[in-house]
Amino acid sequence: MKLNIALLAGDGIGPEVIDQAVKVVDAVSKKFGHEVSWTSALTGAAAIDAHGEPYPDSTHEVCMAADAVLFGAIGHPKYDNDPKATVRPEQGLLKMRQKLGLFANVRPTFTFPSLIDNSPLKRERIEGTDLIILRELTGGIYFGERGRKDDGNTAFDTCTYTRAEIQRLAKLGFELAMSRSKKLCCVDKANVLESSRLWRETVQDMEKDFPEVEVSYEFVDAVAMRLVQWPSSYDVLITENLFGDILTDEASVISGSMGLMPSASKGVHTSLYEPIHGSYPQAAGKDIANPLATVLSAAMMFEDAFGLKAEADAIRDVVNKSLAEGIVTEDIAGKEGKAYKTSEVGNWLASNI
Ligand code: IPM
Ligand code: MN
Repeated sequence: MKLNIALLAGDGIGPEVIDQAVKVVDAVSKKFGHEVSWTSALTGAAAIDAHGEPYPDSTHEVCMAADAVLFGAIGHPKYDNDPKATVRPEQGLLKMRQKLGLFANVRPTFTFPSLIDNSPLKRERIEGTDLIILRELTGGIYFGERGRKDDGNTAFDTCTYTRAEIQRLAKLGFELAMSRSKKLCCVDKANVLESSRLWRETVQDMEKDFPEVEVSYEFVDAVAMRLVQWPSSYDVLITENLFGDILTDEASVISGSMGLMPSASKGVHTSLYEPIHGSYPQAAGKDIANPLATVLSAAMMFEDAFGLKAEADAIRDVVNKSLAEGIVTEDIAGKEGKAYKTSEVGNWLASNI
């Protein structure tokens, strides 16, 4: 099979972790007889430097022409402490989500048996955790009307959802639940927010179409709590954009390192695969960042975008093997263990596929 992949390395550690995923994708493709064609394009701060904007049209064209997009991370500290900056790397990500119609963000959290004691939570709390947060990605407060009042001292951001936006996300949630343990949790704040009440009403109306799925409705604050108390009690969770942003960061540390969890964003056009972590600027260029979240995102890409499950499993198997054999970066190795470089882990994975 011919695999046309757009490669958006982005900022910070993005290029380093992406390099390792490329090695692994090339190795698994060679083994299974696929031909990969990579097309690189700029996003984020790197694109602002080159083109004055974080998601240029040229990059969008590359993404639209590809079968899948593999993405690193964006963000640069020089913009974080400048509230007056008019162009920001993050805008590139938002524009990309909007222009590619990436309304569904799939963020799994699972544990690796060999890493269970790396988690900040006790083993008995997290054993068996295997959940997916399905976050709505192109609506809500991220894309609502915002601004300042004339006095300059009043600011507002609005959260708007339409029934259709909720339905298309919830439909994926129900389908995902059907393919797993048939449990779906709708996360909202329906005791306070009108948009949440529309979420709840819409999902309730859809229950009749998926009679086998057991649906629960929980408030986001309670979910935040239960996620650290008893994460294995969840399976598929669906939620709006901002709640999903916060909960997925919380969930991502359960596995023991932020550098481990992959994600997919799906929607109207080409799907995108990226690690959950950000651009980690403090580590940029040091060859120390954990590439596994990106490598596992590539596995998701094989399975979801190309329907190639054996290839995806081959990647997951070699990742598990590297963890079991201690071929890991410093975030996992800890103080006593031997820490490998980002590139060493990538080379090891590629040669052990
Ligand atoms: C994420 C990130 C982004 C978000 C930022 C960088 C705009 O935190 O992908 O979760 O808030 O969606
Ligand atoms: Mn986030």
